[in-house]
Amino acid sequence: MSPKYPFLEACWGRPTEFTPVWLMRQAGRYLPDYMRVRSKVSFLELCKTPDLAAEVTIQPIDVLGVDTAILFSDILTPVEPMGLKLDFAPGPVFENPVRTRADVDALRIPEMEEDVPYVLEAIKILRRELEGRVPLIGFGGAPFTLACYMVEGKGSKDFAQIKRMMYAAPDLYADLMEKVTEMDRQYLNAQIAAGAQAVQIFDTWGGILSPVDYERYILPYTKKLIAGLNRQDIPVIHFVKGAGTMLNLVKQAGADVIGLDWHVSLGQARDTLGADVAVQGNLDPTVLYAPKAHIEGEVQRILDENAGRPGHIFNLGHGILPTVAPENAVHMVECVHRLSRK
Ligand code: CP3
Repeated sequence: MSPKYPFLEACWGRPTEFTPVWLMRQAGRYLPDYMRVRSKVSFLELCKTPDLAAEVTIQPIDVLGVDTAILFSDILTPVEPMGLKLDFAPGPVFENPVRTRADVDALRIPEMEEDVPYVLEAIKILRRELEGRVPLIGFGGAPFTLACYMVEGKGSKDFAQIKRMMYAAPDLYADLMEKVTEMDRQYLNAQIAAGAQAVQIFDTWGGILSPVDYERYILPYTKKLIAGLNRQDIPVIHFVKGAGTMLNLVKQAGADVIGLDWHVSLGQARDTLGADVAVQGNLDPTVLYAPKAHIEGEVQRILDENAGRPGHIFNLGHGILPTVAPENAVHMVECVHRLSRK
């Protein structure tokens, strides 16, 4: 029997002795130990070498004392075997972006055991090594965010290519989204089968659409994805960056936990969302550049906004930045634990 992990308890909205905490992108370049490993291999090699991926996944557990691990990988790893040539420079770049009917038709749904065995192997190693310490989160990109990178070929300021496809070639957009959703469903279920104890869906770009367009062009796919997960006892965390004005729509996608960025007040978001869903967030990542007393004050403010309601997982409102001092992240985690302890 696994112990009752505070992180998983909070995902289910149950009371915990203290507020569990982790940081999005907690394994990464702000950690000297990560840079040591990363100096020997490329980012993609790191993702594809299970022993190394497991090693860097565990680093923030040791250094920060966070309450859960998140698999070290990237949302774009399963997209490569769909037939796209992926590189990181340092942001993701696809050599052959998806633009035409022929491009969409050529995409294949990977065989997870054969095409991304390293992801499943890393999960198995991590479950052995973390048993009794902390649980393990698996993750994937939301269909829309994956499609953004697949169509644009890289990050973008205005996402003109994918929006053009969405508005001018809606059937093509729908077929692309169906394929990505099905890939994602199989990918996340393979992670659950390998041992992931929770899954997070990252919709980094979901907030670039109006609420009406979110409902038309994103929600049906995320909803279908979540409904297709083998999630009996696996909580699903759904993070849509920039979704503060449409949290009711995000809730309709059906996740157990809603991730919040720092543009919303956590207290107001909880009032809007209601007591039947947990929340995760939402410290502005740049607060970790502030003096320690300021960090403590902001942690206290967010705990006060939550006002003792069960079902709060403390996190940043987006990923930790590479130039943050690790000791400030350690301090943040310590503050969350100390100030929330009942
Ligand atoms: O949270 C974790 O620690 C797990 C690992 C993780 C990474 N990427 C490692 C990574 C997770 C959960 C992600 C998700 C991811 N990847 C998202 C969604 C979350 C978000 O941050 O919005 C997105 C949009 C990507 C795509 C991606 N990968 C980008 C845009 C970049 C470049 C970012 C940058 O800051 O340069 C990456 C590269 C990447 N993914 C790095 C890491 C640690 C840096 C790679 C390096 O070591 O050079």
